[in-house]
Amino acid sequence: MSDELKIVYLNGRYVPIEEATVSVMDRGFLFGDGVYEVVPVIVNKMLRLDEHLTRLQNSLDRISLINPYDNSEWENIFSTLLIKNTGEDRAIYLQISRGAYVKRDLSISAKGAVDVPPTVFAMVLPVAPPDNNVADKGISVITVDDFRWNACDIKSTSLVANVMLRQQAADAGVEDAILIKNGLVTEGTASNVFIVKNGICITPPTGRQLLPGITRDLVIEIIKNNTILIEEREIEETELYDADEIWMTSSTREIAPVISLNGKEVGSGVAGAMWQQVMNLYQQYKQTLRDT
Ligand code: PDD
Repeated sequence: MSDELKIVYLNGRYVPIEEATVSVMDRGFLFGDGVYEVVPVIVNKMLRLDEHLTRLQNSLDRISLINPYDNSEWENIFSTLLIKNTGEDRAIYLQISRGAYVKRDLSISAKGAVDVPPTVFAMVLPVAPPDNNVADKGISVITVDDFRWNACDIKSTSLVANVMLRQQAADAGVEDAILIKNGLVTEGTASNVFIVKNGICITPPTGRQLLPGITRDLVIEIIKNNTILIEEREIEETELYDADEIWMTSSTREIAPVISLNGKEVGSGVAGAMWQQVMNLYQQYKQTLRDT
């Protein structure tokens, strides 16, 4: 993506990023009172846009914030941004906060709040195209205690817990962390987790403990369409140490193989055969999108 001119969307206007400013009273800034989405873009096609917009609606409903646009208006904004910012492999980032109230007050219905419009922001993010050599090498992770709240299904901009958890991984000298709550695997700091054991792919069920990843759903769909076995069920932390393969999935990372967990090799310490098969199928799916 070109670095010289980055045009972003803010509250109805397309402006250079340097000119896009919001009030210090914005509740997104003061409280993290907002939600966001990241939609991958392949050439000019948005991957699973309807699913991302459905999840956005769920997040907005959960925090009692009205969706400012319908799906075609969103699509129009994203398409305009993609035209104004060139590039191939990209993602759309969008965020909606509850706007700037006159007073700092937690209450949604604070005095004078009736007509406060939400702050709507969207931009194009550059995403490095998957480099197979890097992907094959896999990533190293640690397990950490998932001390987050019981509302992780909301794609909330309140991400300080995720920031802290990612820092624990960085302090340990690894790329990411797998989060454990009450002895069970929830997700990564910004991704969902799959394990493979005896030819069966397993991922935790959705609920309040994790974000229902769009990539997770796509990977499950691909697995089912290819008659590979998949179980959506709780994963005990102990199963991680015994897994043949571990993967982490997200819109920007796609399917990342984990080759080291808490300093010990996962499986044979290289990206596994099931990962290779599912990753190939995922890339084929992307290719069909490019070709249509
Ligand atoms: N994060 N879990 C968490 C906590 C996440 O933040 C994400 C994505 C996922 C995977 O969701 P999806 O497959 O829809 O990308 C799971 C995005 C990419 C981010 O915050 O940048």
